[in-house]
Amino acid sequence: MNKTIFVTGGAKRIGKAIIELFASDGWKVIIHYNNSKADAETLANSINSKKADKAFIVQGDLDKADEVNNIISKVNDFTDNVNLLINNASTFYPTPIDEISEDHWEKLIGSNLKGPLFLIQGLKEKLKKSNGSIINITDTNLTKGVANYSIYSAAKAGLEAITKGLARELAPEIKVNAIAPGAMLEPPDVTWTEEQKNRVIESIPLKRMGSEKDIANAVKFLAHSEYITGQIIKVDGGRSL
Ligand SMILES: NC(=O)c1ccc[n+]([C@@H]2O[C@H](COP(=O)([O-])OP(=O)(O)OC[C@H]3O[C@@H](n4cnc5c(N)ncnc54)[C@H](OP(=O)(O)O)[C@@H]3O)[C@@H](O)[C@H]2O)c1
Repeated sequence: MNKTIFVTGGAKRIGKAIIELFASDGWKVIIHYNNSKADAETLANSINSKKADKAFIVQGDLDKADEVNNIISKVNDFTDNVNLLINNASTFYPTPIDEISEDHWEKLIGSNLKGPLFLIQGLKEKLKKSNGSIINITDTNLTKGVANYSIYSAAKAGLEAITKGLARELAPEIKVNAIAPGAMLEPPDVTWTEEQKNRVIESIPLKRMGSEKDIANAVKFLAHSEYITGQIIKVDGGRSL
């Protein structure tokens, strides 16, 4: 039976790199997107042009409970088995304390914490049946505290807490881990100056920014690991040391 991976926010950037790596390894891939329909279709078409019926796309806003339910039922329609769920989608922007609104809370918690939790709940039986894995993508910076990012940090810290709690609760059938990236890509719609980039690189012991592939390779490592659960793997070039 073909193995199936489902990646949220899989149309671009890190999610896309995970999809491409697993598709090239012969997995069936389900690409979730919210706004990036054209990117999701292009990616799925390119995978399906090499082998038919390997890639599927599913749209939905993770902030909204009814859309999360719709994603779950579409995934259940596409496939009998889900071997790997990657909670990768994320909203990321600063929320200085005096500017925080309820809308910021809903958006940052919705995509980074609430959506992932309910996706796990909805796909749990399929993951159980296939002795599958869940990998939540968090952020290595949490441990240090990041000024102006309190909601995003709370959401990612919550996702790490869910990772550990569910690793116990869903064992022994399902493994649950997290990958905490460091500085991989500039935030979407932001271009750092050379000086900003160099400052970041200076703070990284391995002296380079990470890449999408570094995260995809870590996902592959965890996907093939039989005896790791409840762990947060930092893929950050040593920046958090
Ligand atoms: N990039 C880095 O250096 C870095 C550093 C630390 C941690 N991370 C973590 O690594 C993961 C991937 O990073 P990235 O930079 O590739 O992510 P990204 O580009 O910021 O976001 C990935 C996708 O998330 C989707 N998304 C956002 N809000 C959503 C919502 N409400 N509902 C559904 N989908 C939503 C978007 O899909 P659409 O485009 O389809 O709308 C977006 O393309 C994230 O979890 C991020 O927090 C990244």
